Amino acid sequence: MESSPSSSPSGQVIPAFQCLSGGLGAAGDLPEGWAGDALAVGLFSGTDHPLQAATAGLLGGDPTALFERRRFRCKPGELLCLERPDGRPATLILVGLGDPAEFDGMALRIAAAAVARAAAAAGARSLGLALPVEGLDGSAAAAAMAEAVRLALYSDLRFRSEPEPRPGLELVSLLGLDPGAAAGLDTVDALCSGVELARQLVAAPPNVATPQALADCAATIASAHGLELKVLERSDCEALGMGAYLGVAQGSDLPPKFIHLTYRPANVSRRVALVGKGLTFDSGGYNLNTAGSQIEMMKYDMGGSAAVLGAMRAIGQLRPEGVEVHAIVASCENMVSGGAIHPGDILTASNGKTIEINNTDAEGRLTLADALVYAGKLEPDAIVDLATLTGACVIALGEEIAGLWSPADGLADALLEASHRGGESLWRMPLRRSYKDGLKSPLADLKNTGPRPGGSITAALFLQDFVPKGLAWAHLDIAGTVWNEKPRGADGSGATGFGVRTLVGWVLAGAPA
Ligand code: BES
Ligand code: MN
Ligand code: ZN
Repeated sequence: MESSPSSSPSGQVIPAFQCLSGGLGAAGDLPEGWAGDALAVGLFSGTDHPLQAATAGLLGGDPTALFERRRFRCKPGELLCLERPDGRPATLILVGLGDPAEFDGMALRIAAAAVARAAAAAGARSLGLALPVEGLDGSAAAAAMAEAVRLALYSDLRFRSEPEPRPGLELVSLLGLDPGAAAGLDTVDALCSGVELARQLVAAPPNVATPQALADCAATIASAHGLELKVLERSDCEALGMGAYLGVAQGSDLPPKFIHLTYRPANVSRRVALVGKGLTFDSGGYNLNTAGSQIEMMKYDMGGSAAVLGAMRAIGQLRPEGVEVHAIVASCENMVSGGAIHPGDILTASNGKTIEINNTDAEGRLTLADALVYAGKLEPDAIVDLATLTGACVIALGEEIAGLWSPADGLADALLEASHRGGESLWRMPLRRSYKDGLKSPLADLKNTGPRPGGSITAALFLQDFVPKGLAWAHLDIAGTVWNEKPRGADGSGATGFGVRTLVGWVLAGAPA
């Protein structure tokens, strides 16, 4: 199946994808019916794969000397671009795949992304991708390649006064795939549109991506895809007793917006809630983020809400059967002012629990507390929350892997599986009950921060107090994965849109828990 090229809001070309069952011939002969500007071939290091022979055919002889001269070692993601003005195709891109024993869906994404950037830089309008997919499910491989290509070509020109959209790839042909693999392309546009929306929300500066802007974004999704939207104002939240969330919001001049967006299909057999941390700016409050803390990056503290809204955009477009999905974001800013909470204040959450604020910078869990209580009242089969919650999680897992906490093994496994398919990495972390002692307060039911060691675990344990007992719940700490300082894996630098593919993949699988 072939889609047609389109363009993004900033005028950038979005390529169409097709699967062709014909692959490269052993002598490098081009697949029947394919004539593009650029051809990319993936090469493992040190094996006799048929693509090796095909490459020799394309180059008119053994490429060993050429590879030696150009120091091309077939390392993962390594590129060798050959311009052949009289050749057909005119651009040949060789991409390293590394050791075949380590080749997986993620390596496939990294190779496809590297190739897409090189082809676009070479000015190609049409690209053929000949990457090995043996051992991988055909449609999953097609989806992985197409997603990686599309997301690699993403650029954000919204904040330039004179945006210059570059001409880009219009058609990408995935070569040598089974006919059935094309089914994998069906979800690519919706998923990538969701990831791109999340990236735009996260990258937008805090004077643009305000709580009101998040609510407006939810309204746009709702009207485009027929979802229901409720936005609770400060007074509505007061009536519900959301003292923890409103305590964080009270230091800001911007009014808080509690967003509840619902996808309701005809026949519902499951109901799930996705909760996203939506701090459009986190100064830390009176426990201010000071020099060296990268306070200017705390615009990305709404990455959880961006993932949830991006997922809802994709779900609205794909309209999966049987699963009702609620997206909940308690959005606000954490600022300093005469009205801001003091370190030492005691707040009461909407489930009646009292919280002593021993650190105003642990604000995300306060907003999530009331969002989780609200989600629990919907009596869902599962709740998944995503939050840029702790620096401790970044220390533990780095910037490629998000932390996953859940008392529910089935839900944890389903999320791990969905993340793996989607090319996102999660690692399950412990909900060690004894660490709960670190949150004991001399005055209130609990305090909002524990000791520094295990800080991401006590944060998860804090959240668990606001989830009804027995309800399947998972918490994803995405503090490290929401932003790339420099290009990493299949992604470029900047906002990653992390979480969208895991959430949507989980919902499309029927949201098992
Ligand atoms: N938004 C931050 C967490 C964060 C830190 C995200 C670094 C991304 C990168 C959160 O609100 C926060 O400040 N957490 C504190 C908690 C501490 C006071 C217990 C932290 O991690 O330092
Ligand atoms: Mn904070
Ligand atoms: Zn925060």
